[in-house]
Amino acid sequence: MSIWRWAEWITPVPEQHRVTLGEGNTPLVRSRSIGPSIGLDNLWLKLEAGNPAGSFKDRFGAAAISAMKAENQERCVATSSGNTGSAVAAYCAAAGLECEIAVVETAPMGKLRQMMAYGANVYRIRGFGLDADVSSRAFEVLMARGEAPDARLQVSSYIYSVPGMTGVETISFELAEQAEQQFSRPIDHVFCPSGGGGLCVAVCRGFGRLVSEGRLTSSPAIECVQPEGNDTMASALSRTDGIAQPIDCTTRISGLQVPNINDGHLVVQELRPTGGRGHLVTDEAVWNVQRRLASEEGIFSEPAGATALAGCLEAVAGQHVDRNATVVCLVTGSGFKDEASIDLMLEGTDCQTLELDEL
Ligand SMILES: Cc1ncc(COP(=O)(O)O)c(C=O)c1O
Repeated sequence: MSIWRWAEWITPVPEQHRVTLGEGNTPLVRSRSIGPSIGLDNLWLKLEAGNPAGSFKDRFGAAAISAMKAENQERCVATSSGNTGSAVAAYCAAAGLECEIAVVETAPMGKLRQMMAYGANVYRIRGFGLDADVSSRAFEVLMARGEAPDARLQVSSYIYSVPGMTGVETISFELAEQAEQQFSRPIDHVFCPSGGGGLCVAVCRGFGRLVSEGRLTSSPAIECVQPEGNDTMASALSRTDGIAQPIDCTTRISGLQVPNINDGHLVVQELRPTGGRGHLVTDEAVWNVQRRLASEEGIFSEPAGATALAGCLEAVAGQHVDRNATVVCLVTGSGFKDEASIDLMLEGTDCQTLELDEL
């Protein structure tokens, strides 16, 4: 199985150029503890960490690198906060393409090492991902680099890389199918963690596609969750006249440090008609949910992957979501990606070494 089972709905790539590592078709599991603890019995978690390089971005990598192969492009230039880099590096390795990745200054070492292991040429840029001005200037230089005829810039957002983003829309196709098979009722809300906003737009467009094809009668409300320290679009979405804004990023949640607008305007325009709102959460709330996912649900997530659920819990507490609703939270990446967050989770917990006779 791979995202190519949806080939007719995503970027057109002839079969011989399609690269796959078996991405997609990730499980949708019912929350055993966290949902019921707040009276939300129909809370479902879409586990994207099971993708080949450990996050939902592998759907992007598969579609983006396949599209490059189809166009005879051999050099991938990418920018990333971590997971896009790991995804494109993995698919470039599989497809035999060269890969160069500029990463945000604070990207966790685990993510960088994974990209390097796949053979990518990886470098950090100071201030990138923290300062909106440095970030947009870095984009300009990298865009020029990606304009050579044999190259392509890959950034996981619609304003830069549409073919890859269509691969991410497969999340919604799977969710609709899983809803029918697993609980035969429509999904009311899908909570998405949001950095540059591409994921929110992809989920929204995926459901929009299903509605326009007559497979669903309406889209769930697509909910955008951002850390308070990266509020480029969440507040704007919740106000009727709000527009996305660049900010100085202060969140420590890797993957969600995107101070410039990227797909922010699309998020505000396209999520609003679904009834989706913006939600802001503190970094501490995210780390707390990351801990609860591991200890109460058996789900090992990176902080960004716990952010949608943190937003959902606050939306239920604030009565923006009915306790009888059917809700999906996207758990977008693996705990193995971010060792520092696991150190924080285990602070004060020690692993003893016992002598055999002490056992
Ligand atoms: C694990 C994880 N979740 C969510 C996101 C946010 O995605 P987007 O930037 O498309 O909003 C990212 C982005 O890197 C991520 O790595």
